[in-house]
Amino acid sequence: MQQISRRQFLASTAAAGVASAASSLTGFPGIARAATATIIRAESRVIDVAGRAATVFGLVQQDGTHGLVAQAGEDFNVRLENALDTPTLIHWHGLTPPFGQDGVPDLPQPLLQSGQAYDYRFPLETTGTHWMHAHTLQEQQLLAAPLIVNDPAEAGPDEQPIVVLFHDFSFKTPEELLAGLTGSIGSMAGHSMSGMSHDMSNMNGMEQGAAMQMAPTMDINDIEYDAYLANDRTLEDPQVFSVEKSGTVRLRLINGATATAFWIDTGSLEGEAIAVDGNPVVPVRGRRFPLGMGQRIDIRIRLPREEGAWPVLALREGSAERTGFILATKGGAVKRVSSKGDKAEGPLDLALEASLLATTPFAEKAAGASEPVVLGGDMAKYAWTINGRGWSDHRPIAVNKGDRVELAIRNGSMMGHPMHLHGHHFQVVGIDGRRFSGAVRDTVWLPPQREVTVAFDATNPGTWAFHCHHLYHMATGMMTVVQYAA
Ligand code: C2O
Ligand code: CU
Repeated sequence: MQQISRRQFLASTAAAGVASAASSLTGFPGIARAATATIIRAESRVIDVAGRAATVFGLVQQDGTHGLVAQAGEDFNVRLENALDTPTLIHWHGLTPPFGQDGVPDLPQPLLQSGQAYDYRFPLETTGTHWMHAHTLQEQQLLAAPLIVNDPAEAGPDEQPIVVLFHDFSFKTPEELLAGLTGSIGSMAGHSMSGMSHDMSNMNGMEQGAAMQMAPTMDINDIEYDAYLANDRTLEDPQVFSVEKSGTVRLRLINGATATAFWIDTGSLEGEAIAVDGNPVVPVRGRRFPLGMGQRIDIRIRLPREEGAWPVLALREGSAERTGFILATKGGAVKRVSSKGDKAEGPLDLALEASLLATTPFAEKAAGASEPVVLGGDMAKYAWTINGRGWSDHRPIAVNKGDRVELAIRNGSMMGHPMHLHGHHFQVVGIDGRRFSGAVRDTVWLPPQREVTVAFDATNPGTWAFHCHHLYHMATGMMTVVQYAA
């Protein structure tokens, strides 16, 4: 993604509309040609990763824009073309489409064959920082892009949007990575907290406590990647966003990594979390914000009056590796930042989650259904479960239209899981039994041995995926569905 000013950003969005309207001769047979649809093409591209050419995928508009910026109140009106030589399907993570347009293979759409197109059209009811990604192992190959829904009424004229998608990258194929995990214990790249005990002296007291408590068995990273990327770039060659002295930026950060959770570190600048998973929260100030796979966070930063250059880092949980980008004024001196820090970071926790409050909480309503959800896993076999079952023998979570549904999600395993529900946004209403009116989200982090209760209104009939957003946990069983009664 190129560095763009707000004005260029708006201009290119307008131009994209014109370009897509004019291009009816794409050669992609679809169901029905939507004249005004924005074309998004799943295609191959080559990026440079630490000096080596890497063939990855992308989701690109005809004018080269990666991903999509849309306006709330308008329709999501997209023609997805598959220019890859294999089938694919793209999920609109964060949107709440009618069932049928959600982009999860066989729920209910079949994979989109090479050279074919699907048309999607539904009203965009919610704003926010969302994203789109393949709901297959191709997500590992960067088949993912930002999907921003602007609220025309909300954006302050002087707030500069900065959209960054994080990823984890390997020169191996996802099939090889998966085989490495399920093959044998010996070949597993498991990285347990006990293995990093020599780094604990550098942690602060709270982290140290958490690390000690978990020390014997907590697993933290399944895969050692070749690189961690921010908008396709490593920290050795980062994207530099040009910002203005005393300006305000709104970071729209997306964790598109398949198996890596990050701590966002705003360094010397204080930030203010103003939205999570696209939904506004009562602002919380800070310099470190957890971001699990699939989650998004919007952080507002007011820049100093002086010239300068400020790195914003994504620190890999349980490790010293990191990625990031730079905010720099015209005269700011950009210094090189190493992609390896000097200490391993602690695991993600629920400290921020417990302090988040929705600006618009759900209306009070008694839950019509309350379902326990227990996450489990066998690290040795690399088999992950929900309520003791994998995907092949999953038992749907049954809901009735109109009900307020609560899911008490308890993580009985020794690894963190970002749990994502499709088709709905839920509100976090409890942590370890303490009730509160927490953030509205679509993906919530479950640290080992903790319980998070979420509530949602069953207003979008269908059969909706509910799964861990760790790609390899999902692929080895940690997935079920929320199913509406007929
Ligand atoms: Cu981000 Cu089931 O997806
Ligand atoms: Cu998981």
